[in-house]
Amino acid sequence: MTDSLTVRDNRTGQEYEVPIADGAIKAADLGQIKTGDDAPGLAVYDPGFVNTASCRSSVTYIDGDKGILEYRGYPIEQLAEKSSFLEVAYLLIHGELPTREQYETWVHEITFHTFVHENVKSFMQGFRYDAHPMGMLMASVGALSTFYPDARNISDAQNRHIQIVRMIAKMPTLGAWAFRHAQGKPYVYPDNDLSYTANFLSMLFKMSESKFEADERLVRALDVLFILHADHEQNCSTNAVRSVGSSQVDPYSAVSAGIGALYGPLHGGANEAVLRMLRRVGSKENIPAFIQGVKDGNERLMGFGHRVYKNYDPRATIIKKACDDVFEVTGVNPLLEIAQELEKIALEDEYFVKRKLYPNVDFYSGLIYEAFQFPPEMFTVLFAIGRTPGWLAQWSELVQDKEQKIARPKQIYTGARTLEFVPASERWS
Ligand code: ACO
Repeated sequence: MTDSLTVRDNRTGQEYEVPIADGAIKAADLGQIKTGDDAPGLAVYDPGFVNTASCRSSVTYIDGDKGILEYRGYPIEQLAEKSSFLEVAYLLIHGELPTREQYETWVHEITFHTFVHENVKSFMQGFRYDAHPMGMLMASVGALSTFYPDARNISDAQNRHIQIVRMIAKMPTLGAWAFRHAQGKPYVYPDNDLSYTANFLSMLFKMSESKFEADERLVRALDVLFILHADHEQNCSTNAVRSVGSSQVDPYSAVSAGIGALYGPLHGGANEAVLRMLRRVGSKENIPAFIQGVKDGNERLMGFGHRVYKNYDPRATIIKKACDDVFEVTGVNPLLEIAQELEKIALEDEYFVKRKLYPNVDFYSGLIYEAFQFPPEMFTVLFAIGRTPGWLAQWSELVQDKEQKIARPKQIYTGARTLEFVPASERWS
């Protein structure tokens, strides 16, 4: 068997041999297929990159048919059960698990970069009282590039390291302040005695007490949620980070673009839609009629189906378990019963079985976030905090990858050509 593709161009009758490596051909190799010397080479038309690999990556592996997700080769189930978010962040960034010493240094570094410049605080306070926290987060992360102008020196490994540490460390501070802003409450400074996730909860919910002590089960559940969201290979926001990063801009600007992509309802916003749907269904008795409406094509069962997973999303299984831990502390969210019943019916129903529609990560995550008393606008901010190490691991891989170039897709031009320009004074006379 030869690892190549023979292409016959029926316009010219000419045949071409295109090498296949790693299950892919190089789109540039198709450029040699032309109808004449001056004609443009054959291009690939792929809106949304549904079948185009944009990079080689060793960060995250997904097998959507089998429901497998691995970070640097480690199954998500094991990481969620036995690791911590900061250890997973180290793994994603460095490619391997830390020694005890490396881990302690890493945690120390992240912990001692949680504070932001006071001007960042003034900057955030300038937002309107009802500013969306994702808009605030996106702008604030972008603004950090002006506080760390050295960040543009992306070819220096030590420099990249310090910016990565800063961003992972400061993201919860900015996210929590965006939350407090909307509530008109004073911003809470980081407490470096606390773990990453416990400190985040403190910055969110601390009032007049001298020390905020979150329930350990809630801290752990949120840590697990961060782990589950830490990376998901070339999704829309990661692609945005890579695309903007390919211009060699500083990582704050690149991550800010990723936050913008995540902000969109097709990406980070589905869990909010699940909650709205569950509220609308309202009670178990209404489920059969609701399911019938979905099957008739009137609407979608939100939190079900995925472009990549054609099996149970492995993250959904873990989140379902985390629900139990959280509800033990907060009391059961009445919507859980409806969600469980919906899932049970959908998994047995031929419509969903035939289309391989299974619960995705968003089916249960909104219920947990609500139990924490987060308003829906905050859900995507939590997603962004969890995704930050993944964005940075992918960015770091990008800037060291010799094969990468500035992102610059082709287009198929459909507009007019060579028109004669008539000045306004003549057109309007
Ligand atoms: N409810 C009912 N039917 C569905 C659903 C759903 N949630 N999802 C897909 N289908 C049906 C479609 O109607 C289609 O049926 P048909 O073949 O009879 O026309 C078939 O399943 C295939 O659906 P597509 O839209 O082609 O699948 P695609 O891969 O493009 O879409 C998506 C994936 C967008 C996630 C889709 O399943 C969906 O809209 N789900 C609900 C929203 C959601 O939960 N999004 C979160 C995704 S996870 C994340 O982003 C973090």
